[in-house]
Order: sequence, then structure tokens, then C-alpha cells
Amino acid sequence: MSIDTAVLEETIRRVLAKLPEASSGNDGVFVDMDSAIAAATKASREYLSRSLADRRRYVQAIRDCMLRPENLDYMSTQAVAETGMGDVSHKYLKNKIAAEGTPGVEDLVTEAWSGDNGLTTVEYSPFGVVGAITPTTNPTETITCNTIGMLAAGNSVVFSPHPRAKNLSLWQIRKINQALHAVGAPDNLVVTVAEPSIENTNAMMSHPDVRMLVATGGPGIVKTVLSSGKKAIGAGAGNPPVVVDATADLDHAAKCIVDGASFDNNLPCTAEKECVAVDSIVDLLKFKMVQHGAYEASAEELAKLEQLIVGPKGAKTEWVGKPASQLLKEIGSQVPVGVRLIICEVSKDHPFVQHELMMPVLGIVRVPDVDSAIDLACELEHGNRHTAIMHSKDVTKLTKMGKLIQTTIYVKNGPSFAGIGIGGEGYPTFTIAGPTGEGLTSPRSFCRRRRCAMVGELNVR
Ligand code: COA
Repeated sequence: MSIDTAVLEETIRRVLAKLPEASSGNDGVFVDMDSAIAAATKASREYLSRSLADRRRYVQAIRDCMLRPENLDYMSTQAVAETGMGDVSHKYLKNKIAAEGTPGVEDLVTEAWSGDNGLTTVEYSPFGVVGAITPTTNPTETITCNTIGMLAAGNSVVFSPHPRAKNLSLWQIRKINQALHAVGAPDNLVVTVAEPSIENTNAMMSHPDVRMLVATGGPGIVKTVLSSGKKAIGAGAGNPPVVVDATADLDHAAKCIVDGASFDNNLPCTAEKECVAVDSIVDLLKFKMVQHGAYEASAEELAKLEQLIVGPKGAKTEWVGKPASQLLKEIGSQVPVGVRLIICEVSKDHPFVQHELMMPVLGIVRVPDVDSAIDLACELEHGNRHTAIMHSKDVTKLTKMGKLIQTTIYVKNGPSFAGIGIGGEGYPTFTIAGPTGEGLTSPRSFCRRRRCAMVGELNVR
């Protein structure tokens, strides 16, 4: 029998063209949300039959891939290039800590009761397909952190990245798929669409096969997921105040505040966004802050800056995450070498302290005493219950602040980023769920608690 070579070639070409889709769903990137969710649903079913040891291997493969120096470099530089926000070296650090420190399968600790009636366990069990919405401010850190947490929990995940971080988010999801494929994980545990958009995010949120939603982003998107009628985790805005009282080590406090408020150009939702300090130490605190890389704006510069960066709805998006040097240049000021943060004294009603700017600009409000400082900090946090910081050696006042402010993260005598495990104890996360109460999310946040009761047996006490 003779075979027409042209027909054979055409057949081989068609088969080869289909191969990537059949093996890895185009590395997890699909043309539409329905196909992406169908693939993630299939993957999550297959994932159920894999062992915990398998899960550990897959999580390790993600860590290894994200920690490759060339990938860390790429993610950090491209995040700044694509979104126009943040600082490359700080993004490198955030990406590294997300890949290294996000908890894995060990986070899923079983509870058990045993007695005359048998043995009962409560185990952390997957939801199935999780829909995760990720921000423009911390795009790759959040994808790494969510992927590790959600897969360690036994789920598959459909990402809806912020459209302004599209190219990098798609690149990262492809890389993760390639790494998972190489270690034999079910294909399409991590998927997305080629054109992330509000429409696609809406399609994801309303899809019946997506069992849980996790939104890390601005107030709009968090409100939307919380109104979805599904189990939802909302990680949204804060407006973290830092309080400094007269007992604080002022040099240390000044350095910590400059470090924290300038970290990634103030993009983290945990970063110091305003400072409330007692009158007797404000001048020295500002002097020390300047020594550590802050620039104090004059009244004239303050007015220009306000006009530049504040609009009717608060911070103007085009200035979010820009370096202090660029802001100063834009208002026509001299840019001191090494400047990291702009500070200015303002009243408590000023937009620089009332709104979360996410820029290296820190309003300082002077108050008569520590009790007024704590009260004002609570007011300026606006009940977001996100993050607060205090510098003091007075344990009673530190305790009072913690009790009154009720934030998910409360850092004492350190920079804000100590609260997400950078220079402080504890694991990191980039999805901090204040409104819904999970706090610093980890694999168990993405699980259902399921009880199994064996009656009468298996108790060996
Ligand atoms: N996919 C699709 N749509 C998204 C999206 C996503 N991943 N994220 C946000 N959107 C939507 C929003 O719902 C909003 O729609 P709406 O106008 O209909 O409400 C629209 O896109 C614009 O949102 P956003 O980019 O947030 O608005 P903005 O340009 O005014 O604000 C920021 C920009 C950076 C100030 C804002 O995104 C923000 O506050 N981000 C903080 C993110 C963060 O780190 N949060 C908490 C971490 S724990």
C-alpha cells in the first residue's frame, strides 16, 4: 500500500499542532474562561487521586522554578516595566520570600478525638477549583503565594490576573505549568485565559464549577467577590498607621518607618501609610528620618504634590508605586541623592493621611500624647482592620493600641514588612484577608474542614 507523502505530512503536522493542548493545555493558558475552568475541573478530579507526597513534590517544583535566579530577575524587572509600579530590588525580595516561605502541605494539620465511641478526625480538604483574582501591585508574588497555598491544599486554580499585569502573569502561569508538567502533575492545575479582563473575571466568578473565590486587590474587586454568593476570601485595602510615642528608640523607629514606607515604593497593603507621633518627639523623629533617606517637603512642595497625586477619588493611579525621586522631579524640586521617602507634617484631615496613596509619601500628624495618637491611628485606619505599627517601649500602651485597633497585622518596634515575615518571625503571604477573617492566608485557608467519625473502633487508648 502506498501512502501519499503530502497527506502523511499534513496529518503529522495536525497531530503535532494539537499535542501541546493535549498535554498541557497550552501551558495553562486558554482562549476562553469556560475552557480554562473545564480543564481545571478535570485536573482537580485527577489531583484527588494523587498522594500527599505528590503534592509536596509539585509544591517543591513550583518553588524551585520561581526561585531560579533568571526567573526572579525577570519577574522583578518585568513587574515594574509592565505595571509602571514599584522597585525592582524589593520585588526580587518579595518574589523570593513568596517562593521560599509560603507554607505547604505541612500546614494542613489534622485534629482528632478518640475515646470509647471510636475515632473522629477533622481534616483539611480541598474545595476543588478555586478562582483567584490577583493585583497589579504585587502580581507575581501573589500568583506564587496563591499557587503554592491552593495546590498544597489539593485544589486546582483559575487565575484572573489584573489586566495591567497581563503579560507577566501569563508568562508566570506558563512557567508554573511547565514545571508541574515536568514532575508529572496533572495538567492544568493552574490555568488562566489569554486575555484577562473584567468580563473574563465576571465569567469566572459566576461559573458553577468554581467553588471558592479569592480576591487580592483594590476595594472594587474585593467588594464584588464578597457579593458573589460563593465562599470568598477578600484581601483588600488598608491604610496602615504607624504610631511613635515618647518612649520609642527614635533612631530605630525612624529607620524602620523609612524602610517600611519606601518598600516597593509603598505598594504593599501592609506598608506604613501615615504616621501619628507625639508632639515632644516629632522634630527629632523627622530629623532622624531625613538621616535615613527621607526628604521633608516644604509647604509649597506639599501643595504641588497634593495637586499632582490626589484626585477626587483619592490617589491617582498613574502615580501609584512611583519612586520618591520621580515625584520630586515632577514637582520641580531638587532630588537629594538616595532619597527614598517624602515626609510632610499635615493635619489629620489631609488626604495624605486619610487616603491610602500607595506612594512613598508619608503624612505625619502631631498629637499631644500617646493616648491621642492611638485614638487617631484607629480613626485613620478606617476600620479596615488591616495593618498597624507602633514604636514604643511602654508595654501598656503597646497593648492598648493592639486591643483598640484590631488589625490583622500589628507590628511592634519594627518595619511593617516584619509582619509578613521579612525580618520578622512567621510565614509570608501576599493575600491578607482582613474582612473575611482568614488573616495571613496559608493552605488551610483554601480548604474545607471535613469530619470523619469511625464509630466504636480504632480507639487504642
Ligand atoms: N481582573 C479583572 N478586573 C479587575 C482585576 C482583575 N484581577 N482587579 C481589578 N479589576 C477591576 C476592578 O474591579 C475595577 O472594576 P470597576 O471599576 O468596575 O470597579 C477595575 O478593574 C479597576 O480596578 P483597579 O485597577 O483596582 O482600579 P484603579 O486603577 O483605580 O486602582 C490600584 C489601582 C493599584 C490603586 C488598586 O488596584 C489597588 O488599590 N490595589 C491594591 C491591591 C492590593 O495589593 N490589595 C491588597 C493586598 S493584601
